[in-house]
Amino acid sequence: MGTTKKRKLRVKKKNFTIFVVFIMFLCFSLYELGFVIVKLITTPKEVETEEKTPKKEKKSSTDDNKLKQLNNVDQKVKYFRKDNIDRYINYKKKNSNLDDIQIVKDVNMNLDLTPYEDKFKALNIGKNTILVNKYYYLDKDYEPDNLEPISKVYALSGMKLVSEAKEAFEEMAKDASKEDLEIIAMSSYRSYDYQIDLYNRYKRQDGIEKADSYSGRPGHSEHQTGLAVDVYDGELNYTEFEQTKEFDWMQEHAHEYGFILRFPKEKENETGYIYESWHYRYVGKKIAKYIKENNISLEEYIATQ
Ligand code: DAL
Ligand code: ZN
Repeated sequence: MGTTKKRKLRVKKKNFTIFVVFIMFLCFSLYELGFVIVKLITTPKEVETEEKTPKKEKKSSTDDNKLKQLNNVDQKVKYFRKDNIDRYINYKKKNSNLDDIQIVKDVNMNLDLTPYEDKFKALNIGKNTILVNKYYYLDKDYEPDNLEPISKVYALSGMKLVSEAKEAFEEMAKDASKEDLEIIAMSSYRSYDYQIDLYNRYKRQDGIEKADSYSGRPGHSEHQTGLAVDVYDGELNYTEFEQTKEFDWMQEHAHEYGFILRFPKEKENETGYIYESWHYRYVGKKIAKYIKENNISLEEYIATQ
């Protein structure tokens, strides 16, 4: 009996061992199967990620390479514009003598482009900071809706400016008159059609090249904004305004009323026009002060914002 019991016990042990091994094998197989299933499920996602990653790297490395050509100028120049990056690089190739800050400023002023050929619709239409020049134009039907006649005490008849500029102009001329100075507006708001006649007359008179040096083509004259005014002293021709006491006074005080000398000496390559001692532009007191104190053109002011 004892021997039979022992045999049974051995058989039980053996069965138990087989059972344990089987369970272990089952667990291992299930683990492996689970692993395969998980891998199958996750594989497409991983592929997707792998596809995205190189694209990202490629883009940023292209940008990095471009920036290296500019010595990472964006780190130094706060008015660096990412959209202009290719233009900065091309301009730098042609102007290797210029430092990077100048490269950025010049391109922001569109000096890498061709006047009148590369042109854009003027931005900030209706605001004091509107820029109209050989690159920025106004549509032929653009006319400010707040034009007001300038008092005949300070203007030839029919002169108009937009209301804020008109108020400022009259205040300026009035204060100048207290010092026995006469500042008279002799040309102010001009419509697109008026500018056609004027420009064509200048073209017939002086030829296109010379006319372009002192007159805006239709749509490109800031007189159409109603923010520009040509002045004289009531006696001398306006082209001689520089010789008058009124000019000296305006040099000192125009910015206090929000006006700037729009086409200064030595800024011809930025403004696109010869020096005009008689042409003033209303931009508001704060900007006029900044432009005067920093001795910059309106073009440079806009390019460095
Ligand atoms: N004389 C300036 C440039 C004009 O015609 O607008
Ligand atoms: Zn003018």
